[in-house]
Amino acid sequence: EVWNPNGKYRVVSTKAMPGTRWINLLIEQDCRVEICTQKKTILSVEDIIALMGDKCDGVIGQLTEDWGETLFSALSRAGGKAFSNMAVGYNNVDVNAATKYGVAVGNTPGVLTETTAELAASLSLAAARRIVEADEFMRAGLYDGWLPQLFVGNLLKGQTVGVIGAGRIGSAYARMMVEGFKMNLIYYDLYQSTRLEKFVTGMSGSSVKIYQLLTLILMLICFLFAAYGQFLKANGEQPVTWKRASSMNEVLQEADVISLHPILDKTTYHLVNKESLSMMKKEAILINCSRGAVVDEVALVEHLKANPMFRVGLDVFEDEPYMKPGLADMKNAIVVPHIASASKWTREGMATLAALNVLGKIKGYPIWSDPNR
Ligand code: DGY
Repeated sequence: EVWNPNGKYRVVSTKAMPGTRWINLLIEQDCRVEICTQKKTILSVEDIIALMGDKCDGVIGQLTEDWGETLFSALSRAGGKAFSNMAVGYNNVDVNAATKYGVAVGNTPGVLTETTAELAASLSLAAARRIVEADEFMRAGLYDGWLPQLFVGNLLKGQTVGVIGAGRIGSAYARMMVEGFKMNLIYYDLYQSTRLEKFVTGMSGSSVKIYQLLTLILMLICFLFAAYGQFLKANGEQPVTWKRASSMNEVLQEADVISLHPILDKTTYHLVNKESLSMMKKEAILINCSRGAVVDEVALVEHLKANPMFRVGLDVFEDEPYMKPGLADMKNAIVVPHIASASKWTREGMATLAALNVLGKIKGYPIWSDPNR
């Protein structure tokens, strides 16, 4: 599919993307836009090389593609300067190879934060209240009347939510679970991100003087909160608590619901493995909307088999689009096909950011969102 055939710059998108805003942006800036119409879901390196051809100024690609040395050298030979992943995650992109061939790389953070956090929250609720199992039960015609023990799940209120990876998405998810469901919070960030800390404490930390003033105000607020806590206790309510864990194991041991939000790299590959699973509570819920390989899926299947009260909600898998043998048979697993960012607003935003990334570089502006920055 070709838009604006006489455009000066040739921009290729390896997939059709939602909305038309991204196409219009490129056309207005004298780009010829070519969208791959191949039926295959996942394009091979060879398919993409053929698509780029001899002249290609920039490419918008997808997280299912392997953007390494071969593709970046081919893009550079075609005169290309820019590549944008239509994703916030860029574990499929070899940024060093891109740099070596003079190609700038962009990703699409921000617009998918709330949408992804909402899916993690949905999976948490669905797992806690066994919604998918109950739905299957109804559709199978098995419901023959209300029973006191039918699909009894967990009440989230007052339980502890554990967040591993406290960046944008992890922080948004924590906020939803704490504010929305009155869960206590424990979190751990491998890169010591203070984003979530700012959310919980409400501190900006910008200058010493402001900090001192804020400390005073905070002390006053703390006093009021303590008084409020006493009031709630007296009235049978527990105020929520939060803490930053000093190790991931602390989160694994203490949390009732654990949600994973780290990036995937060497350090987070199989972060959740046989040993870490064994540290979690027998009735814990594990949510993964980050990348599949953060969890050792074979070990997870074994753990699900051995612990029927342990539940998972998975949006991502180690070898997408496949699941490891046995996972699909587990009643205590909810599995969805990598749809965490799949809201209309977000997907259109991701497409627009990806187009802006490529356009910015072609036109000589700084790339909108460079993961190296
Ligand atoms: C991303 O952007 O990295 C998400 O996985 C897409 O849903």
